[in-house]
Parts: sequence; structure tokens; C-alpha cells
Amino acid sequence: MSQNIESHLVENRVIKPSRDFSKNARIKNMAEYRRMHEASIKNPAKFWAAEAAELQWGRKWKLVLQWKEPFAKWFEGGTINAAENCVDRHAEGDRKNKAAIIWEGEPGEKRTITYGQLRREVSLFANVLKRNGVKKGDRVIIYMPLIPEAAIAMLACARIGAVHSVIFGGFSADSIRDRVADCGATCVVTADGGYRRGSIVPLKQNVDTALAGNKAVKRVIVYRRANNEIPMTKGRDVWWHDEVKHVKADCPIVHHDSEHPLFVLYTSGSTGKPKGILHTTGGFLVQNYSTSKYIFDLREDDIYWCTADVGWVTGHSYLVYGPLAAGATCFMYEGAPNWPEPDRFWQIIEEYGITILYTAPTAIRAFIKWGDEWVDKHDLSSLRLLGSVGEPINPEAWMWYYRKIGGERCPIVDTWWQTETGAIMISPLPGATPLKPGTATLPFFGIDAAVVDNDGKEVPANVGGKLVIRQPWPSMLRTIYGDRARYKKTYWGEIPGFYVSGDGARRDKDGYFWIVGRLDDVLNVAGHRLGTSEIESALVSHELVAEAAAVGRPDEIKGQGVVVFVTLKTGVKPSNELKTNLRNHVGKVIGAIAKPDDIHFAEALPKTRSGKIMRRLLKEIAAGGEVKGDVTTLEDYTVLAKLSAQE
Ligand code: WTA
Repeated sequence: MSQNIESHLVENRVIKPSRDFSKNARIKNMAEYRRMHEASIKNPAKFWAAEAAELQWGRKWKLVLQWKEPFAKWFEGGTINAAENCVDRHAEGDRKNKAAIIWEGEPGEKRTITYGQLRREVSLFANVLKRNGVKKGDRVIIYMPLIPEAAIAMLACARIGAVHSVIFGGFSADSIRDRVADCGATCVVTADGGYRRGSIVPLKQNVDTALAGNKAVKRVIVYRRANNEIPMTKGRDVWWHDEVKHVKADCPIVHHDSEHPLFVLYTSGSTGKPKGILHTTGGFLVQNYSTSKYIFDLREDDIYWCTADVGWVTGHSYLVYGPLAAGATCFMYEGAPNWPEPDRFWQIIEEYGITILYTAPTAIRAFIKWGDEWVDKHDLSSLRLLGSVGEPINPEAWMWYYRKIGGERCPIVDTWWQTETGAIMISPLPGATPLKPGTATLPFFGIDAAVVDNDGKEVPANVGGKLVIRQPWPSMLRTIYGDRARYKKTYWGEIPGFYVSGDGARRDKDGYFWIVGRLDDVLNVAGHRLGTSEIESALVSHELVAEAAAVGRPDEIKGQGVVVFVTLKTGVKPSNELKTNLRNHVGKVIGAIAKPDDIHFAEALPKTRSGKIMRRLLKEIAAGGEVKGDVTTLEDYTVLAKLSAQE
């Protein structure tokens, strides 16, 4: 039986960058990309050193990379401060009065914070942390709504060398308890509440529940956001607005070692128990700065909107550190995309003149499902560049995004990366790369990505295999917090010398990378190994389908049968006839081998809170059993109950 993943989905559309876009872009054509990429792979240290030199360092590094597999040290001997690079260096000179953060709350409040003001806010809060006993190296939990203070708290930690661990505001008390314990936090920064679809999320209450019996956390600093009534524990809890009255707005920069920890971020992906991914300062900042600059091709007058929450790595890298290091104006919105109506995003783009939108396929599929009329109400002509991250984007969803949102004018950067990689690894460069719907295209400078078999040998074009990275990169995770053995085994243990991403992929004849899904999810049907994303994309290409998830189910004859869960566009009625049509449609697009054995219509699919479909849970349902695995990362528990109950 073949160990390789087979690929059947063929996508022939190619969209070249417009001359107008290329003319002004940093990288203007493929020859330039190829030349730079080749040179950067031959001598990564040279490329990264040149990028690093654009940032501000306390002391310059002695060695660009020290590599003792699988442990990397980047810019060894150098000292740097992330807050200085993201804030202070823009707070002097031309950008002083430029907006750093423009924010809108879900109830509609608007705030603009210039780089000059941001320096003041970050310095004040850094002093508040110090006043409350937080020292360099201490772990600080940040559990906040998506308000500017979340970014301010992160940057304040970075300023004094405290290690932040942001927990998404949608996580429960149990998740907080586990994370606080795992990283040994001594301080929690939170808010009374945050807004989500018109109601108040009781953040402080969740913190109180999580900290019951905890003796390690000495301080809880509470920002007043929603004005909901909350109890304050004497001796432990203090108000943000009271504390800032006692400190000065001056907090001199201290430079930290390049390898000083910047943050721990817990990730579970779609499987298993959360791991604390540790990132350090210098390398993380360099790669985030560099990718923001080249991939979003940032201009001084851009208004850049990354829709991710700070609780995810995308919020760390491309809402806070990357774009701010590049001196960009970042837009931030607190709430849900369909509140009060499904056109909130389009209204925001029109009102603020957003020029770059970076969002996730799960959101794009939701917009398609809600209907074009919500988009048509607004003028989106300010947009010039679109981005996607988090999952493979189905080609039909890509085309919709390109046409309906981008007006066939905006390139789409489909960016592949992971919490572990810390920054974008594979992505088009918008002025150079010819695009194909559904692929993240080619590796970024200095990134040696490949698709290999189990022995680490590159597979031929259009044959599926494991997506690996063959050389260390600056923003790579340094370890799993407190578990070096697990780090080594999980990421570097499978193929000697290679980082194994856990994703399946293939490269087409042009060398473009197509992610076919997580390897844990690969189906094995009568000896054919099929990635989940192709079957799902085939279904999404049917005009009545909004979203689909494919999983395997034990089958006596074929080994595994294909079971799909399908959500239909708003207003479409499920029927047996439609099931037959969908089965035939998959047969036509991919081939008989991928025809689903079973189709379930669902109102919604179970997803992680960052929007990834949890196929592991669907697999248990498809096999006819109950869901027994860990469901703590599930976004909406009622979805599971509905799925289990239906035929
Ligand atoms: C998936 C998010 C296809 C992939 C930054 C990866 C993608 C996992 C893409 C990491 C993309 C992310 N195309 N798949 N453009 N981007 N993925 O840690 O399976 O939340 O391994 O980081 O998301 O998810 P994470």
C-alpha cells in the first residue's frame, strides 16, 4: 500500500499580479523572488542578518545562528527590546503622530492611539506591572477582550522582560486554570467583561473561578471595560485605572538577550492536550517584521486589519508584533462579524477605508453562507490586498473572496504557517507571485520547505507527502514550555534533521505547495490515501454548499469509508436528492474513489475557537459512537449535541 497521499483535485486557474500592483511592490516579479530565495537558502544567515539590521538593537549579535539540533539560538550575543522596536522607535520622528492602533468596540465606540500615545500607555502599564511585583522572566497571563489594552499589556510585558501568555477571551475557567498552572504565572491581567454578540462575557468571573485555591498568583489587574458588577479580592485584585495614577509615564528601555523568552502561547490545534509553545525575542521579531514588510507590502498610508484575536498566534504576530515593528496603522475590532448584522466587517472597511484585510477561511465561508446582499451594501474600493490564514482555503471560497471582496483588483496572500513557526513560512509575494486559488504558493525567503516521504526524500510533483522545513528559521518555537523531550519528539523526532509540521501537502509542477490537511486526518480508502481538504473543496465548489468536513469511518471492505458533514447556504433545504447530487458532484470533480459513502447535513460544524474544523470529533460521530475525546477547545458545545442527535 502506498504511504503517499494521492491528489486528485486539479486547479488550473492562474491569476497574475496586476502591473499596477507590481510597479509599487517591494518584490516586483518572479525573477526577483527566485534570485532572492535561492540566495537566502544558500546563505540564510546573510539574509536574516540584513533583515535584523533594520531593527533597533541594544548590542549587535555575535552569531546569527547557533544550531544544536533541535535547539536554535538566533542573533546570539545580541540584546533587543520588542516594545522599543514596535513602539518607541516610531514614537520619535515622522511617525510620532501616526495612528498605531485604530479600534472599534462591538457596541460602537471608536478610539485612535498614535505611536506617541502608545509609548505613553505601554510605559505606564509597564510601570504598573513593576509596581505590582512583576519582574523580568515572570509569567503574566493576559485574558482580555480585543481592546487596545490587550496589546498594551503584551507590549508592557515585553518592555520589562516579563513573559506573557495570552488566553483567548472565549476560553473557560478550566482552560485558564490549566494554563496558569502549566506556566507558573504569578500575575493575571484581565477585564471586568468584554462584548460578544451583544452580551457581556464575564472575564473576571472566569478568572476568579480558575484561581480558586491557587496560591501562586499574587496579583490580578482588572481593566474596566463593560462596567459589569464584579467582586474584587482584597490583597490580590487591583484596578488598572487606579494603578496608573501611582506611576510615571517614563519607563526606560532595558535590552534583553535576543533569546530571552517573549511569550508562551498554548495551542492544541485540532487534536490533543494544549502545549505551551515558547517563542523568544530577537528571531521572532525579525521574521515577523520581515514577513509583514514583504508579504503585506506595507505602505505608510495603509490601514491594515487583521481580524484575529490576540489570543491566537495570528493576533500575536500580525495584529501586534509584525505590523507595529513595521510602523503600520493597525485596525482592531472587538466583536463578532455578524453583530448587529452580517455586514459589520464591510461597514467597517467602508467607514475606515481599510486597505489590507487579513482573515480566515472559516470567516470567508460564513460570509458566503450569509449571502452577497450584505457585501453589496458597501463600498469596498479602499481595499488593495487580501490575506487568508488558518486552514486551506477552498478554491471556490478563494474565488468569491477575490471577486466579491477584492473586486478582482486585490491580490490574495494565502499564508501558511503555525503557532510553532511563529511567522509566515509559505505565501505569495503580492507583486510577484502568479496566484492559483487554494494554494499558499511558495516559501518565504530563508525558508527551506519541502514535501517528503517517511524517509525524508522529496516526492515528485503532485505526489502528496509530509510538509517539512529543512533548516531552522528565526521565529521557530524554541521548545514546549517545560518539556524539551516532548518538543524534540513531536517536531524533530520523525525525520532526522527536519522539522515535521504535521500537515500533508503536495507541490504542483510549478513547485507550489498545496496543503491537503492535517496528517492525523488523512483518509485511507481502499489503499488510497486521500487528504481531507480536496474532498471538502470539491463539496464547497457545489453552488448550494457553504462548508464541508470529510472524515473516515471504519469499513470492512475498503478499510475506511468517506463520511462528509455538509452545511448548506442559508435557505437551502436538505434532501435525499441533494445527497445524490453531491455524491455525483464529488465523483465528477475528484473521481469515484472520493465519493462519500455517507452524507450528513448539519446546521454547523464543530470548530475550535480559532475556527478550525474539529474532524477528530466528527470521526467519532461518523463511526456511530459517542464523542469521548477532549472537547475543551470546542467553540460551541451545542453543535455536537445536534450532530449526535440527528440522522
Ligand atoms: C493550518 C495559524 C492551509 C495548517 C497560523 C497548520 C493552513 C495549522 C494555512 C496551524 C494555510 C494555517 N493553508 N493550511 N494558509 N494556515 N493552516 O497553529 O494545518 O492555529 O498546521 O496557526 O493551520 O494552525 P495554528
